[in-house]
Amino acid sequence: MSHINKTTLLQVEKLSIGFSQYFKGTQKRTIQPIVDLHVDIHEGEIVAIVGASGSGKSLLAHAVLGILPGNAICSGSIIYRGEELTEERKCQLRGKEISFIPQSVNYLDPLMAVGKQVQIGLEKNQALQRQRALFQRYGLQKRDEKLFPYELSGGMLRRVLFATSVRDGVRLVIADEPTPGIHPKALSEILKQLKTFAEHGAGVMLITHDIMSALQIADRVAVIRDGQTVEISDASAFKGRGEQLQTDYTRRLWRALPQNDFDLEFQMKEGE
Ligand SMILES: Nc1ncnc2c1ncn2[C@@H]1O[C@H](COP(=O)(O)OP(=O)(O)OP(=O)(O)O)[C@@H](O)[C@H]1O
Ligand SMILES: [Mg+2]
Repeated sequence: MSHINKTTLLQVEKLSIGFSQYFKGTQKRTIQPIVDLHVDIHEGEIVAIVGASGSGKSLLAHAVLGILPGNAICSGSIIYRGEELTEERKCQLRGKEISFIPQSVNYLDPLMAVGKQVQIGLEKNQALQRQRALFQRYGLQKRDEKLFPYELSGGMLRRVLFATSVRDGVRLVIADEPTPGIHPKALSEILKQLKTFAEHGAGVMLITHDIMSALQIADRVAVIRDGQTVEISDASAFKGRGEQLQTDYTRRLWRALPQNDFDLEFQMKEGE
């Protein structure tokens, strides 16, 4: 697509993430949910990250953002705009150049009205006006701005989360399941907004279970399984019976969709 620049914005190589845990009181063990992940995103490109629940998609997002829990042991390399993305840089860029749409609405502050939360990071003299414009764009009412998170439905909270990510100067957007529980109009608005980010030169990591929606806007799709990258293919390879896909795993994932063959056997196995 024309707005994709050849410049690599984000490059994740050989990422591994483990957690040390105590069990039976005093014994320590390590679990290793991310084994060997790699993914790269160019400026202006939308890369969808798909994979079964528990495959490590959110951990990947959190590693790039620098918000893994304290007991996580992380190795590998994350290069952002040509330089190592150190924890210090992650902290500087998070919420500014690198914006995050989290998977859980629990990331919202329970004690702050949602309108105020959308205003964080906006220029002071325009904050209210811009927040109202964002509310309108995502189907939220003016009266909702004074409400606290517990007073809003799940779908409304998802739209508030999305509104918090729309900021000037964003170069990388990490959206972790931005669309579940959202009605079709808001869904298409969100996909359109992600595409607009990319058209303005930002890279977008779109983590999702909804491959069909992702394919409407994604340039490439990375498939993750058990903490490993299985395949990264152009979105255009996801068609027909998946003949152009590289791996049998992705082909079966593709065919398991209700729109395709609806391969139930595969769905059961992955759901175990
Ligand atoms: N803080 C943690 N301590 C121990 N294990 C964890 C922790 N966070 C995640 N995991 C494990 O890492 C694996 C990957 O988790 P992750 O949240 O990245 O999955 P996911 O692909 O985002 O799944 P979903 O699609 O359900 O959101 C899971 O098996 C999970 O149990
Ligand atoms: Mg997740």
